[in-house]
Amino acid sequence: MKKPLDFNFTRALARGHVSYDATVGTWWEHRSADDAHKRAYRHSAEHTRDSLRKAMKKNKISSPLIVDYACGGGHYLLELARLMPEARIVGLDGSKKLLALTAARCEAAGISATITTGEKAFVAGGPRVRLVRTNLPNFKLPAGKADAVAFVFPNIAPGPDDQPLYDRNGYLNRGDAAVAKMLARFREMDPEDEVTNEKPALLFDGYMTERVLARNIRKFLKPGGLWIKVDYANALRSELTELSQWRCLFAECALEAPIKGLQSELLFKLRDNVFRRSSVILDVYHQTKDPSDKTGGYFITEFGAV
Ligand SMILES: C[S@@+](CC[C@H](N)C(=O)[O-])C[C@H]1O[C@@H](n2cnc3c(N)ncnc32)[C@H](O)[C@@H]1O
Repeated sequence: MKKPLDFNFTRALARGHVSYDATVGTWWEHRSADDAHKRAYRHSAEHTRDSLRKAMKKNKISSPLIVDYACGGGHYLLELARLMPEARIVGLDGSKKLLALTAARCEAAGISATITTGEKAFVAGGPRVRLVRTNLPNFKLPAGKADAVAFVFPNIAPGPDDQPLYDRNGYLNRGDAAVAKMLARFREMDPEDEVTNEKPALLFDGYMTERVLARNIRKFLKPGGLWIKVDYANALRSELTELSQWRCLFAECALEAPIKGLQSELLFKLRDNVFRRSSVILDVYHQTKDPSDKTGGYFITEFGAV
């Protein structure tokens, strides 16, 4: 049998959302079940609960709707469902296999769940957890319904035919593209601080692609709603160089500062960021084989929808 590490991630992920129904999904199931991931899911779910309950109190919401964007096998979703019995949760993912695992895990935990269509998933009443198989981003699902969206350990694989979808939903935005071009060319003053050696065209594509996902997440949220993003990291955001912070925030549609006088579209405002050391960072090392990705952990970032 092939070892989980013996495959080419770039080639496997190039197949798009179906990639997680094959080898990448098997690798992810194995990785996401270890103790480090369990602790990270628990911590992230607790953070989500605490932030969301504060907002619920302020806005007098008793039963919030949370979207778990690319929920995978449902480890985080399940923690959240246990910690917030008052919440309805919609899990979206492209993998049939991982969604079936999420449904089975909910059933085993006594949490009512169903795999359903995008339309039905957002209506009131019915099972507390609704799961939808969909390619992401998806701009056709009901808008403005969620109090919070979680995006945990993001690794959205655009499919070979997906570029027109990205183009229609912000990838071609001229103002944003001008800022993306500058950020893709900028390099750290001190070469020791530079974290990327990617070519500008690849960086540009990455920023504009991520912005489309942020735009999609914003579309699910009510005004003032919460976006919780759990991402691999090496330090707190405030400890990163100014350029690294700009790069992250720009990709998240949360860059408030103009770059050389140019303002990109602002959809979110950064509210909070916590960092924890964890061997979950090895998920990145498995994909890049870069030794510097052997240390670090993850950070949880909280954004408010503008
Ligand atoms: C690294 S996993 C994270 C899963 C989950 N959030 C977690 O932390 O356990 C990435 C997830 O993104 C999903 N995914 C990747 N590309 C996708 C796409 N184009 N459309 C929908 N889902 C996608 C995969 O199926 C997988 O579940």
